[in-house]
Amino acid sequence: MVIFQSEICCRDRLYDYHKLCRNLLITVLRSLTDCKMTAKNVTLPGNAADEAASEFSEKSPRKGNVLLREVKEGDLPIFFEHQKDPDANYIAAFTAKDPTDESAFAKHWNRILTDEGIVTRTILFDGQVAGHVVSFEQFGEREVSYWIGKRHWGKGIATHALAMFLKEMKIRPLYARAAKDNLASIRVLKKCGFAVIGEDKCFANARGEEVEEFILRLNAAEEG
Ligand SMILES: CC(C)(COP(=O)(O)OP(=O)(O)OC[C@H]1O[C@@H](n2cnc3c(N)ncnc32)[C@H](O)[C@@H]1OP(=O)(O)O)[C@@H](O)C(=O)NCCC(=O)NCCS
Repeated sequence: MVIFQSEICCRDRLYDYHKLCRNLLITVLRSLTDCKMTAKNVTLPGNAADEAASEFSEKSPRKGNVLLREVKEGDLPIFFEHQKDPDANYIAAFTAKDPTDESAFAKHWNRILTDEGIVTRTILFDGQVAGHVVSFEQFGEREVSYWIGKRHWGKGIATHALAMFLKEMKIRPLYARAAKDNLASIRVLKKCGFAVIGEDKCFANARGEEVEEFILRLNAAEEG
């Protein structure tokens, strides 16, 4: 566990360094080309969710155009394809018992779409269904989760979509859970203002064993 934490800490430092280099490069490019590149195109969001949302709420050439909308029946077959992906399952860890079970998937989504306490949105990337984000209550706490189709990974879509969702879904504190080795998801959450507040260990269907996870929380802005 200590190793995982220090790995994440090291990664955070590496990202800070990476950001610094990127900003330096942009400064040089600006002076060479006198181009009108704005910080919006190149900087990563800070800790506050609102800041993150405004950072990503406009079209960016690097990341394309991310939009959220209500889930439509026609999105479900695409979500099912996303759910069946073995790599995605491994990363997410805490997944459906059998991700290929279509009737279980249909039942699950029927419950999600008819439960008024669950808020869910389809994530569109340049007009295509790229994934979904969902907020629900678990153990008396409001949680958020998301899933992006594998071919869309690494484009900043989850960060962008979560930041937008947090503008719409204002319940705080808001919790999230991620396997300790789901570094992409932990990174997404931290960029949107979540902080690690604890840890747990649960059985992970996708791995057939208990897996350690971080519990993260997003406080109301004034709570810090
Ligand atoms: C986790 C997931 C949502 C990330 O989606 P995404 O659209 O690729 O995420 P983003 O591009 O917005 O951001 C990912 C960040 O993690 C970083 N990252 C990606 N893979 C990483 C890895 N193996 N180690 C460390 N960081 C990693 C990226 O560099 C990026 O950070 P940066 O913007 O600072 O460079 C996606 O992989 C997914 O849907 N996985 C399956 C379902 C899942 O795990 N859901 C979350 C359950 S908690």
